[in-house]
Amino acid sequence: MSKQPFTADATLPQSLQELFGAADPFGLVHRLREEAPVFRVPGAGFWLVTRHDDIKALFRDQERVTADQRASAGFRPRPEGSYLRWVQDNGLLALPSDGHARIRRLVSAAFTPRAVRRMDEQIRDVVEEFAAPLRRRSGETLDLSQDFADPIPNAVIARIIGVPSEGGDDKRFRKLAHAFIRGVVQFATPEAQDGAEAALAELYPWVEHVAAERRVAPRADLVSDLVHAVDRDDSLSDREIIMLVTGLLAAGSTTTAMACILMANTFLRYPEPFERIRRDRSLIPGAVEEVLRFSFGGPAGLARYALQDFTLRGQQIRKGEMLMLSFAGANRDPEVFEDPDVFDIERDARELLVFGGGAHYCLGANLARQELACMLDGLLEILTPGSKVRTDLEGGVRRMFLGQGPFLVQIA
Ligand code: HEM
Repeated sequence: MSKQPFTADATLPQSLQELFGAADPFGLVHRLREEAPVFRVPGAGFWLVTRHDDIKALFRDQERVTADQRASAGFRPRPEGSYLRWVQDNGLLALPSDGHARIRRLVSAAFTPRAVRRMDEQIRDVVEEFAAPLRRRSGETLDLSQDFADPIPNAVIARIIGVPSEGGDDKRFRKLAHAFIRGVVQFATPEAQDGAEAALAELYPWVEHVAAERRVAPRADLVSDLVHAVDRDDSLSDREIIMLVTGLLAAGSTTTAMACILMANTFLRYPEPFERIRRDRSLIPGAVEEVLRFSFGGPAGLARYALQDFTLRGQQIRKGEMLMLSFAGANRDPEVFEDPDVFDIERDARELLVFGGGAHYCLGANLARQELACMLDGLLEILTPGSKVRTDLEGGVRRMFLGQGPFLVQIA
């Protein structure tokens, strides 16, 4: 069937709702990429960018755009003196480029091969803790969101940072982390922002205290490694360590949880590759990459803000406007990925842009990959052949996308 061209009032998405609620979101993104690759979503106040080459270039462009939300024309700072304001002004995305590069160098100094091996073991332990009770549950309906995908990334970060698992500290930490994350995501409600403020008021002194302790008595954990990381004569201050720990929490929890649900959903829809992986687990790393390419993010993407007026594909972008760099736009671009709508766990996914690019390339990309590989390994034992998503009940993957919600699976 031939494609219908967009007309101003008919098939172009007319609102955020139409964009994110489309019945065929990937089809819509293909059409936008072909016919309106830099598209101003009516009423939404941002430009959606859908071509892989544009997105890749914008990730590396520090002159025309920034990830710092303070450059947005619609930016509303949190009240002076609040913790959230401190995060807005000091987070990784807000630092000037030289200061940011300095922190990245110091953090890499903490990611020694020994530290990475330790993290691998910690990830395996945490995934096993949550996977074990979900095995051999034939005939039952499980909520993989609540019992597997949501708690694991938080628990992994807690373990890596060095939160003790005894004495309830880890549960308290996870609760605070959850409240913090809910309040710092894009489009967070005012109530969620207040919750994040209250959580930070507890997290901030807690991390400060742990950092001070680890300066005196280092342990085998990330805070100790960060405290002692040295690049030439430079090292991180306690405040910078607080910024990094809260940054890891904000960036590494919801993303990984969502990727895990998408992974389960994709494999339940495509059982054949799932069965192949069951027979040959060396396929796991490639399968994780392909799930991220194929399923992560949909039309939505990363925010950038224009630092100056400029033209992109004939569209006039004004200083302070927001550009949203679409994940599906980049990762399903047929110029880069052959047959992009085919799920192929053995494809070359090197041009994947799901972890961003340039200076802010995801600090936790390898950690996320390792976590997802372990989670997939765990899912192979939980999701016995013939298991199905319970689409008859509320809580499919769509609901999960629009907000936190259950992801229910009928175990065969
Ligand atoms: C599937 C899971 C993940 C995805 C898809 C993901 C994706 C991304 C993306 C796209 C960026 C770039 C943001 C931008 O340029 O605006 C980013 C940055 C970042 N990510 Fe991840 N991430 C994931 C997991 C993690 C994990 C597990 C951690 C750590 C625990 C983490 C830590 C970070 C940090 C600290 C940054 C900011 C880096 C900087 O500004 O220098 N991420 N991530």
